[in-house]
Amino acid sequence: MNIIEKINKLKREKNAIILTHCYQNIEIDEVSDFVGDSLYLSREAAKTNADIIIFAGVYFMAQSAKLLSPEKKVLLPNMKSGCLMSDMIDVENLRKFKSQYPGIPVVCYINSTAEVKAESDICCTSSNAVSIVKSLNEQKVLFVPDTYLGKWVEKNLKNVEVITYNGYCPTHLKIRPEDINNARKKYPNALVLAHPECHVETAKLADFVGSTKEIMEYAKKSDSKTFLIATEKGVTDRLNRDSKNENWGKEFYGVNDNTICPNMKQNSLEDIYNVLLNEINEITISENIRNKAKECIDKMLLSGSKK
Ligand code: 13P
Ligand code: SF4
Repeated sequence: MNIIEKINKLKREKNAIILTHCYQNIEIDEVSDFVGDSLYLSREAAKTNADIIIFAGVYFMAQSAKLLSPEKKVLLPNMKSGCLMSDMIDVENLRKFKSQYPGIPVVCYINSTAEVKAESDICCTSSNAVSIVKSLNEQKVLFVPDTYLGKWVEKNLKNVEVITYNGYCPTHLKIRPEDINNARKKYPNALVLAHPECHVETAKLADFVGSTKEIMEYAKKSDSKTFLIATEKGVTDRLNRDSKNENWGKEFYGVNDNTICPNMKQNSLEDIYNVLLNEINEITISENIRNKAKECIDKMLLSGSKK
């Protein structure tokens, strides 16, 4: 049996499912039950009847799955797979930030630890950040940890001041406005699709800005044939694969060669097999943190946005 067959057999025996973020190494899709962005995967985590969830993603994503499914065993294939942006804020920094702006609600990007979520008012993802902030009906909000997603939200909403913490994604910041301009010169008919974690000056140059899953859906539906993808390489790889397998006749290019999130690429099929076989790398969260952090995510899931 090859590794894929071995994983699939173990999954059946143990009633396990595998949730995979679209920045993962593409071969992991072969054993995955769901592949998508943070919001989609957190919803699927909440719905599943599986006994074990393997989260092929980064640490905060596995933590979010555990928050939504506390009775299930949630395993991370490789404990080194953490999000650099989420590590830029801890509870102490957040309390300091809040104390500078008393009484202003805190919107917390899902790319954050359970501890940070527990200290925040409502969660959001890249696909619903604008509608979540809008739903609060506030003149000012605090936004953590991603300063660029926060600025993107402010740009898209009239009359809301979004005060951002100074976190950022090192991978998305490597996509500079000149990369977009140069790539457009090379592919003049291409549409540029960008993730809102990019610098606002980069995102402004895009034809469409959205979460990873939104970018993939947009590309599939669009009549254009050539696309420049301003987000992590996993998205470009999956789009090219699907275009080939399903005869879309479309081509997808990255805007530079640096758009790789090294932490997202830590998980391998061997790691998945190993954690599923031995049931190791289990995510645990104390009850106190879990209750508060879950409330923060539940508010998002229940929000009228329903995106
Ligand atoms: P999505 O919310 O689009 O899945 O993005 C998560 C992420 O880590 C982007 O860098
Ligand atoms: Fe975190 Fe950036 Fe990697 Fe996404 S791409 S997991 S935000 S470091």
